[in-house]
Amino acid sequence: MIPQEQIERKAAESLRRLLPRLEERFAGRTDEAAWQAYTERLRGHFPRLFRLLLHLYGNRYDFFYYLEQLLCTATSMWLDRPDELKALDAVKEYDNQWYQSSRMLGAMCYVDLFAGNLAGMHDRIPYLKELGITYLHLMPIFRTPPGDDDGGYAVSDYREVNPRLGDMEQLGELASELRHHGISLVLDFVFNHTADDHPWAQQALDGDLDHQAFYRMFPDREFPDQYEKTLRPIFPDEHPGAFTYRNKIRRWVWTSFHNYQWDLNYENPAVFNAMAGEMLFLANQGVEVLRLDAVAFIWKRLGTDCENLPEAHMIIQAFNALVRIAAPALVFLSEAIVHPDEVMKYIGEDECQLSYNPLLMALLWNTLATRDVRLLHHSMSRRFAIPSGCSWVNYLRSHDDIGWTFSDDDARAMHIVPSHHRRFLNDFFIGRFEGSFARGLPFQENLATGDARVSGTAASLVGLEKALVDDDPQEQELAIRRIMLLHGIILTIGGIPLIYLGDELGRLNDYSYTDDPEKDGDSSWVHRPAFDWELADQRHDQQTAAGQIYHGLLRLIQLRQQNLAFTRSETEIIDTGNSHVFGYFRRNEGQSVLVLGNFSERPQTLEAKRLRMLGLRKMLTNIVSGQIINAVRQLQLEPYQLMVLIVGS
Ligand code: GLC
Ligand code: GLC
Repeated sequence: MIPQEQIERKAAESLRRLLPRLEERFAGRTDEAAWQAYTERLRGHFPRLFRLLLHLYGNRYDFFYYLEQLLCTATSMWLDRPDELKALDAVKEYDNQWYQSSRMLGAMCYVDLFAGNLAGMHDRIPYLKELGITYLHLMPIFRTPPGDDDGGYAVSDYREVNPRLGDMEQLGELASELRHHGISLVLDFVFNHTADDHPWAQQALDGDLDHQAFYRMFPDREFPDQYEKTLRPIFPDEHPGAFTYRNKIRRWVWTSFHNYQWDLNYENPAVFNAMAGEMLFLANQGVEVLRLDAVAFIWKRLGTDCENLPEAHMIIQAFNALVRIAAPALVFLSEAIVHPDEVMKYIGEDECQLSYNPLLMALLWNTLATRDVRLLHHSMSRRFAIPSGCSWVNYLRSHDDIGWTFSDDDARAMHIVPSHHRRFLNDFFIGRFEGSFARGLPFQENLATGDARVSGTAASLVGLEKALVDDDPQEQELAIRRIMLLHGIILTIGGIPLIYLGDELGRLNDYSYTDDPEKDGDSSWVHRPAFDWELADQRHDQQTAAGQIYHGLLRLIQLRQQNLAFTRSETEIIDTGNSHVFGYFRRNEGQSVLVLGNFSERPQTLEAKRLRMLGLRKMLTNIVSGQIINAVRQLQLEPYQLMVLIVGS
């Protein structure tokens, strides 16, 4: 270990040497004042960047060559950055927590399935605005190989939009138009792998050794076999291990996901630099939140599961430092769908300011199945708090499957046997468990281990599909209440709520994917239907399920936006004294609310003693219903009712 002061000294020295070289190289490209502002940021963040890179690549003789190349990339990307984005940089440097406002509301969609193509997105902005969307995640839109492309996550070129969807210019225009409407564009940075037809991979296939070194490849099974002893298979249906043999180069290529997605080798500083360039290029298109895809997998070490290694964090932190220098308006969203202890480690202002909350997601579904909030309460009490400058992105489901990523220790503490319980949850949501209301499908069921995950839209998983098929109005009513309850929680618990577009209308599973040979076999397509604009036309008719769900949600969204208690406040998870009722306080600037959710189909009560313990007054207002409640003796919640009680200061 090199002592800290020595690193600082080295950093200062190398910056002194590099700055004049940058000045010379980019002379005349911008004015004096702008250059000064840039170099000030560079000075501020360089020591951190230097320390991280030294740790990752310091043992290489060509370390300084790559360092200089990296700073040149960052500088030229900053110079290319459009003025409108530089203005945004200036604003967001002073407000780096804009994403904690209660006005934040996320949505995600596929461009083709929602609007046909990028040009079509313009016409759909009014729909987004009507809902109050301020954050829009477009699923990957870049060029991909023909045929199967993992829903866009096999990227052939980070600088070319899939011609089916439009072109780069349209992307830039859409980003500004969205911004003018108060909507931040969110795109993926698929940085763990490229498609096997990316130019780097093509050159590797042509035998170019420099480009073979961009990936992790092995001439025989010696290392792959050793690695696989400790690796977790991600898509066991497709290939059992993590390697794919390529005849042309007679090599085993590391492919954590599909065999056409080649894992990049971040041990090679040329890869880090090249990807930093791609990242800043994306930032310059007007992206405000970059979703860092599959963060857990980017570093590998023999003898480990090759997930969540310390170097993975360093790579992301180094990217973060570069962004603070060259595109400071941008923030990172971590996509770590792993053990909750590991999810936490990606969250920090110096790493990812935003993180998906897969634990809350999984446990909300768990609680619907069991009607018992104890595991949710236990886990959230311990695991919901994150650093104050950071936010969760809370969601009920995404384009991916639902996996049961709760902590086994948390489960055991609640006397739950983790493996049995996961099997129960799969059975429940696949509708195999007797009495289940859910209509999900199994995803990547591993017959050897019994592991599986679940696919399905929110409405099909909460029972709306079954109720409609059974023509059972009572069940339909319960299903709608479940949808409101789950959305109500992600809207109020703290963080950016993220809606999968279509769920706000109660969109059911779409089984037509089995007709498409490229999709058949991948059940996640059941919950990625084309957006149904006819269903959307019913949204103002409250006789329809779509209308009831849509208006119920609008109300909750308004309630969130109007209440200071939901901005930047802390969340205190409470014990309600009733194992069917989940609850938490949100407090901010004298505003304080208590949110209660009944996870059972029976009415539930909270006893007066508990209410006094929580410091509640006798007269309470539920701002979801407008009802004033006299809680002298007890407080009663209807089946699946969500209450937001004004508690006062
Ligand atoms: C992320 C995406 C998923 C994709 C994987 C590999 O987890 O959400 O859809 O398969 O990364 O890119
Ligand atoms: C990606 C995959 C998902 C898998 C996860 C593992 O998100 O799409 O299926 O569970 O990675 O981290």
